Amino acid sequence: MQAAPPADEQGFLALCRKIERERKFRCWNYKDTCLRRRISVRMRARGATSYAQYAGILDTDEKEYDRLVDALTINVSKFFRNPETFACIAAKVVPDLWAVASPLIRIWSAGCATGEEAYSLAVLCREYASANGDQATLDRLRIIGSDIDRESVAVASRGRYAAAAFSDTSPAVREKYFPLENGLYSVSPEIRNLVTFERRDLLDGDEPSGRLQMIVCRNVIIYFTRETQERLFDRFHDLLLPGGFLVLGKVETLLGKSRDMFAPVSSRERIFRRL
Ligand SMILES: C[S@@+](CC[C@H](N)C(=O)[O-])C[C@H]1O[C@@H](n2cnc3c(N)ncnc32)[C@H](O)[C@@H]1O
Repeated sequence: MQAAPPADEQGFLALCRKIERERKFRCWNYKDTCLRRRISVRMRARGATSYAQYAGILDTDEKEYDRLVDALTINVSKFFRNPETFACIAAKVVPDLWAVASPLIRIWSAGCATGEEAYSLAVLCREYASANGDQATLDRLRIIGSDIDRESVAVASRGRYAAAAFSDTSPAVREKYFPLENGLYSVSPEIRNLVTFERRDLLDGDEPSGRLQMIVCRNVIIYFTRETQERLFDRFHDLLLPGGFLVLGKVETLLGKSRDMFAPVSSRERIFRRL
């Protein structure tokens, strides 16, 4: 079955309004094509032939509702995803963070899914502190991981992962910081203690309080409309301290006037510095 035909546009809009009202998921900020594709995948899975019929299924099946919201949020991640980006952060960003004089060094992994990105950043910082014999700076570090998806945040907080999550991680790093326990790799306390996880909706203006030295928001904004992306870049600019870093996903980039608000550190790795 293909996606429901355009003639069912009213049905599509009604379904989006329902999801927005009942699950507080702001459909209108997400790219239309992406929404339609993901909804039609779930409709196909349940054999629904119209949006109205699928809405009826959602009324009686909470699990299907959860699956739909899961499909809309796309919670895939892994440790050191795009390792070259993390190598660039280690070489060009972490040393600068260490030079920050303020009492706290605050990093936000926004849209962290199941936490791998936030923990990978913690590993980079831990490694830098060890190499420089500087535990004191590590004590000033606070990494906040947040995601709209409650279940992902719960997984992140548990910090236990299957081997597949480490396909981009060197075995030496995995062995050092993620000991194997009962068939899963557990985040060691020295890394776990550097990170806190929270449920936050980026589209709600729901941000960590206080200004930040770095925002890592990768493979999240790509699902948002252009207008929403531009609004978020504005917010990120406000939230970052001057000279603070912004890291986007490999297929994401600054748009509109935000291009004048940040300078590239590495265009290839999508790392920028707030002006
Ligand atoms: C593909 S994952 C990216 C995970 C990680 N940043 C990475 O690159 O590996 C996208 C994440 O964005 C989250 N997300 C989508 N909309 C969001 C919103 N409005 N606020 C916060 N997180 C959101 C999803 O729940 C999902 O976990």
